Amino acid sequence: MKGLILAGGAGTRLRPITHTSAKQLVPIANKPILFYVVDDMAAAGIKDIGVVVSPESGREIATALGDGSQFGVELTFIPQAEPLGLAHCVRIASDFLGDDDFVMYLGDNMLQQKLRPLVDRFVAERTRPRELHDPESELPAAQILLAHVDDPRQFGVAEVNAQGGVVRLVEKPADPPSDLALTGVYIFDKRIHAAVNAIQPSARGELEITDAIQWLIDAGFPVMHEVLEGWWIDTGKKDPLLHCNRLVLDTIVARIDGDLDAESRVEGRVVIEAGAVLRASVVRGPAVIGAGTKLTDTYVGPYTAIGANCELRDAEIEHSVVLERSRIIGVHHIHDSLLGREVEVVRSGDRPKATRLMLGDHSRADLE
Ligand code: TTP
Repeated sequence: MKGLILAGGAGTRLRPITHTSAKQLVPIANKPILFYVVDDMAAAGIKDIGVVVSPESGREIATALGDGSQFGVELTFIPQAEPLGLAHCVRIASDFLGDDDFVMYLGDNMLQQKLRPLVDRFVAERTRPRELHDPESELPAAQILLAHVDDPRQFGVAEVNAQGGVVRLVEKPADPPSDLALTGVYIFDKRIHAAVNAIQPSARGELEITDAIQWLIDAGFPVMHEVLEGWWIDTGKKDPLLHCNRLVLDTIVARIDGDLDAESRVEGRVVIEAGAVLRASVVRGPAVIGAGTKLTDTYVGPYTAIGANCELRDAEIEHSVVLERSRIIGVHHIHDSLLGREVEVVRSGDRPKATRLMLGDHSRADLE
């Protein structure tokens, strides 16, 4: 079994962060989303992994992941010149994948459930003893992972039969056949290659993986499904990303390796990395404070992840994610916020009193 992680794409919904950085490297509880994906694959026994990257994200992602040895896996980077769709990723990965079964995992998705049991069930189903006259086509060609959602009209939705087979997939249906949405994890055998080569681009100009799976179903190849246990989040937008950060912070193990003075305190589930310094500051968990970050006269509230080498002085922040080397000085009541790298949010006290902004393209400031 191989792995295919999709880490290209345009990332328009997470601009301006994605103007300069790959969304798959945005940290959740100070660990890049993509690292959770690679760790999950490695734990499922998948050691040979292809990573689809875009021209913009390729170098940064390759630098972050290295050769995979830090995860105990071997990585092959597969450049995609344009984001032409999830099924296009399978097309360009065909040399890497060969005839092997593979797990395809969207590099910006996070699952609470581990991959291992899902892979094991697919393998068990395919190796189950069958009557000699069973045609090969009765082996499942794919296993898709579904999740119950509140509003299926925003998703790819599956219609399943009583035997657990998938009979139809529909994209963003006005009248959904079920509340079962397609998540970002799929398992395929080699028959998917014929499917991705047979389909045409959709109205939005992409080769859709839902069309490829529908092609398998229409060709009479069984497509199985599993309903996910626990949460699943597509982190490609700010609010789901903050939500995911919240869920993961709820599971961290408290650890204080930084330096706190007598006027500082931490409460609850908090990680203070080595080299972080707290002076007259309070951190109320769940929260993480990155290595080398300095907090002075600052309050960090629940569900906040502050990256490495940041500086917060006379600041109050909660339910937010702040990336490396950012500075927040003299600003209170920062909530529900995502700050990129080397961002400065400063109250200067200069006259005339005014809000002075220097925001890049697609930035968003929501003032009190
Ligand atoms: P999406 O989030 O569906 O697409 P996107 O990254 O283009 O984002 P946006 O809609 O905000 O512009 O992609 C899901 C994952 O698959 C994500 O990790 C990017 C990756 N991907 C590719 O690698 N190649 C592609 O052609 C597409 C469409 C996505």
